[in-house]
Amino acid sequence: MGKKNSLKSALSSHQSRLQKKQHAVHAAQAAQQKDKITGQSSKRKSTHSAPVATATVPFKPTHKILLIGEGNFSFAHALVFDPPPTLQYLPAASVTATAYDTEEECYTKYSSAKDVVRNLREKGVEIIFGVDATKLEKHAVLKSRKFDRIVWNFPHAGKGITDQDRNILSNQMLLLGFLRSAAQILSAGPVPVIHTQRQRKKAEDDDAPEVSEGEGEDLESAQTRGTVLITLRNVPPYTLW
Ligand SMILES: C[S@@+](CC[C@H](N)C(=O)[O-])C[C@H]1O[C@@H](n2cnc3c(N)ncnc32)[C@H](O)[C@@H]1O
Repeated sequence: MGKKNSLKSALSSHQSRLQKKQHAVHAAQAAQQKDKITGQSSKRKSTHSAPVATATVPFKPTHKILLIGEGNFSFAHALVFDPPPTLQYLPAASVTATAYDTEEECYTKYSSAKDVVRNLREKGVEIIFGVDATKLEKHAVLKSRKFDRIVWNFPHAGKGITDQDRNILSNQMLLLGFLRSAAQILSAGPVPVIHTQRQRKKAEDDDAPEVSEGEGEDLESAQTRGTVLITLRNVPPYTLW
């Protein structure tokens, strides 16, 4: 129970940090857009210490995106209903959002999920419950499909293992199983060249704000190999899997 509560509060503070970051990025983008329209310099006086950075958006509107292990489907909702400017034209039908839980379990755990899922379905997002991240290539609906991005935000086996080493091992095994499985339903093609611009910028100026990964892709129009994206909390024990 205590373990569940601490996971829940860690998850909710993680989500609130993400939300704050997203708002800051949107505000910075809106300011940059305004500068473009008014012809002003983008070197505005900052009222806070955070640099005006371009958001890292690892998706393109042409991508087929598979979301794994969604809890309350809030990420899918944000992606489709509140996308960054570069994803304004991402078709909802290009997003497949999945949960490990059954539909019933999901609605019991998360009070908002029923409405969120209904909205997503109405918009055209494909929702699938009961999807095991380690058996994607065996799933009746997913096995014959290919995705450009397979995303698992904040993976956690959630087995309630109190022994730290066994807990870490269990999550490492889960991620290994996920990567093995995801590889089989990723789009084929040449390996995308990413980070080119970021590396060049970093070399020039180590304090430079980060540059969007998408801007560095050389094979802009070509069909490149799909990518797996995993987000983790940047504190132990999460950094250990
Ligand atoms: C910490 S929660 C993160 C939920 C959501 N992605 C988020 O960022 O809010 C971990 C999620 O992984 C899911 N999960 C655990 N084992 C899984 C598996 N084998 N396959 C798919 N999802 C799994 C859980 O059901 C839970 O929703």
